[in-house]
Amino acid sequence: MTACCINPSILSADFANLQAELARIASADAVHVDVMDNSFVPNLTLGLPVVKRIQEVSDLPLDVHLMIDDADRWAPGYAELGAASVTFHAEAAAAPIRLARELRSIGSKAGMALRPATPVEPYLDLLGELDLLLIMTVEPGFGGQPFLDVMLPKIRRAAEAIRGSGLPVALQVDGGITEDTILRAADAGATVFVAGSAVYGADDPDQAVVRLREAAQR
Ligand code: DX5
Ligand code: ZN
Repeated sequence: MTACCINPSILSADFANLQAELARIASADAVHVDVMDNSFVPNLTLGLPVVKRIQEVSDLPLDVHLMIDDADRWAPGYAELGAASVTFHAEAAAAPIRLARELRSIGSKAGMALRPATPVEPYLDLLGELDLLLIMTVEPGFGGQPFLDVMLPKIRRAAEAIRGSGLPVALQVDGGITEDTILRAADAGATVFVAGSAVYGADDPDQAVVRLREAAQR
């Protein structure tokens, strides 16, 4: 798969004006929604009731990223409210294959995320169960952190495995994606790019999406 998608993260948006903030990213491919529980990561954001309302008012598909413990219990609820994709962390799922199958059976795409220190190799046999593999390029928990270049070889290995498998698995990167870093991630094989501060920190978030898309294809 070639680079396709820019998914702005609303973590860097104005939480008091979410509906208006969504209207500022019309060129985006999906809205990335970061759910944090102050346990899996040291930060707390939003949960099912808020994501449900975002889904109801959003014209864009929802790309939900769950940074929460006990993903097996909570992830299906996000698929049920209509999220296009639900990504759980491998480190937080007791039965990732069963969970991925459950998400797909509800009608959502199944995504699995890996923290920077989690190796990708043990999970490559699961590619057939997944629609999306997320390689974190910062420690999850906060926006605005610098891109971890040390993750590039891991992105390359995951991209090679996906290509070799022939499976249509999207390779997402999340954290520190800017106009400067996006090409390195794209060259390593990432196909879907999450950007929070690079989009909502810009004067014109929609223009920032357009510029990121161009920078990924340079
Ligand atoms: C961090 C979140 C990211 C965050 C990215 O744990 O998963 O989605 O919003 O923000 P930036 O693009 O600013 O690194
Ligand atoms: Zn995220």
